[in-house]
Amino acid sequence: MSLDRLYALRAELHEHNRRYYIEDQPSISDQAFDSLLRELQELEAQFPDAFDPNSPSQRVGGTVVKSFEAVAHKRPMLSLSNSYSAEELGEFVERAEASAGEAVTWSAELKYDGVAISLWYQNRQLVRALTRGDGEKGDDVSVNIRTISSLPLTLPPDAPEELEVRGEVVYTFEKFEALNARRAAAGQDTFANPRNAASGTLKMQDSAEVARRGLSACMYAVFSEDRQFSSHREALDAITAWGFPTPSREQRWVQSCSDVTEIQAFLQHWDSERQHLPFAIDGAVVKIESTAVQQRLGSTAKSPRWAMAYKFNAEKALTPLHDVIYQVGRTGAITPVAVLEPVWLSGTVVKRASIHNADQIAKLDLHLGDFVSVEKGGEIIPKITEVDLSKRPADAPVVTFLTHCPDCGTALQRREGEAQHFCPNAYGCAPQVKGRIEHFVHRKAMDVEGIGSETVDQLVDLGLVHRPADLYDLTWDQWARLDKFKDKSIQNALEGLARSKDIPFERVLFALGVRHVGETVAKKLAKHYAHIDALVSASQASLENVGDIGPMIAQSVLEYFADLANLHELDRLKAHGLHMKFQAAEGASDILGGQTFVISGVFTHFTRDGIKTAVEQNGGRIASSVSSKTHYLLAGEGVGPSKRAKAEQLGVKWLTEEEFRTWIGSTD
Ligand code: IVH
Repeated sequence: MSLDRLYALRAELHEHNRRYYIEDQPSISDQAFDSLLRELQELEAQFPDAFDPNSPSQRVGGTVVKSFEAVAHKRPMLSLSNSYSAEELGEFVERAEASAGEAVTWSAELKYDGVAISLWYQNRQLVRALTRGDGEKGDDVSVNIRTISSLPLTLPPDAPEELEVRGEVVYTFEKFEALNARRAAAGQDTFANPRNAASGTLKMQDSAEVARRGLSACMYAVFSEDRQFSSHREALDAITAWGFPTPSREQRWVQSCSDVTEIQAFLQHWDSERQHLPFAIDGAVVKIESTAVQQRLGSTAKSPRWAMAYKFNAEKALTPLHDVIYQVGRTGAITPVAVLEPVWLSGTVVKRASIHNADQIAKLDLHLGDFVSVEKGGEIIPKITEVDLSKRPADAPVVTFLTHCPDCGTALQRREGEAQHFCPNAYGCAPQVKGRIEHFVHRKAMDVEGIGSETVDQLVDLGLVHRPADLYDLTWDQWARLDKFKDKSIQNALEGLARSKDIPFERVLFALGVRHVGETVAKKLAKHYAHIDALVSASQASLENVGDIGPMIAQSVLEYFADLANLHELDRLKAHGLHMKFQAAEGASDILGGQTFVISGVFTHFTRDGIKTAVEQNGGRIASSVSSKTHYLLAGEGVGPSKRAKAEQLGVKWLTEEEFRTWIGSTD
């Protein structure tokens, strides 16, 4: 009886989901929905044997995936040839029609800037969701895909038994900005663009977090052995009816076109209108509608001959420059920032743009009141690329770079050969003091949980902390003076600090925030000198002898340790019990010393990160792309085609996983 209810509830909740997310016409309240869902969850707890990975209860996630299994695609996931101008696209259309031997109807659609995904249904149940991977094999991200509420987990009875649907997982600008705002508030790195965020989210191990983030999807390709479609349009209509999110015809996200003129009108429309879309696109795609013609034209190894992508130019907007303000970074670097009349660009309102340094201001010959052209590259923060001189007001004052720190008033300096000005008042200038402490507690440095940027602001503003070592002296009563700090948060901060004492020496070194000493350099120094005392007394010549460390880094390290205040700080950190000695990781060696590896493919005994660690722990270096400096292509299953070709071209040696394991002596 209750089992019947369980199945009925699943069907009902699937239907409510569809009405809410696809038809945008919910027929019950959110509360009523939640109460049905709770009832279902209770029944599922009572009947564990009735577990179903596609139950509506799985939408909230909860499974933690250790690593994503690589699975072969049923059909390779091809890519599209690109064109960069309307003329080029026009030529393609003419050529394709010539080889088709007839005039054809085209589907013009948006090119979603997200992550390609393939969904595979068997018996009308979602069985697998794969990322594109290298086109042959992708990662099984089913658990995370199930949390995307607009994607159906089960299909209606008129859908074919076997079905593959492909499309794109995207973030809406709204969800993307909310995610970045949450991350910034928690002191985490923000994502550069919605595509990176979507890709990062799909690869998360905790599906409950994926569910909270609220990804979206749009599906644009269909394959089925059981059901033939005569056209792309018919296929899209069919999957729309089966409950998939598909491009909207009313809003012209997809449009049938009978000739080049109509296609070009579509491109023009979206080139200017794309800023009003709720998600990012990076161009348009044209496809031949007829399945028969598609089959006749076929595909090359890489892409179909019946489709072509068109990439939009980077979006630009012209807007007046109101002011230039200056930000002081953690290391005292001064960055000028343009304050603009707010303007729409790629779906977001832009109010600020970065101008890198004084030279850039001079090069652009910036005047206040100038109309400047802003562009978004891969970064979130747009940059100024041009000034429209014809619009310069007669009395526009030229922008001159600051001479003194906007925060503490100290005279700025500029080192020879460096583009950036900086404020030398490292320990008396609030943004630098805060920045240095934020860096110290950061996840990649001392990883102190319970202390975010707002907490650091308060600690510094209240005069409780000037330098990182002060954190370890704070008493319970001092913590209690902070706004919103009650027993629980005080305890978290204290425990976080206590735990940070286990952080290895190389990260302590990175956490100090010595100019130019990033994670990699810190690791090298820690390994080379083994003990802080040896590093403190190292000479310029000795430092320059450490691989990859040049005069600039050496100079900066010397300056840091020449400062008595820094030495005092080190002594205090030492007294608090932070690690000051390098401890080789278990199983570490220098067997691979001097060798550079590029990793590609999937491995049996290692995860992707695992094999990287194994290379580094044995003294090897990792590079991301094959070049003449690469010694080995460490190749797993399914090496990427471009890496393979490059390695062959340059004669780079292949190293199999087994050979690698034998080399490092890990053959258990
Ligand atoms: S059709 C056979 N349609 O662009 C090619 N792709 O460069 C099937 N993309 O990996 C792709 N929007 O991730 C198609 N409306 C659209 C698309 C689209 C975005 C992506 C897709 C693909 C890449 C090809």
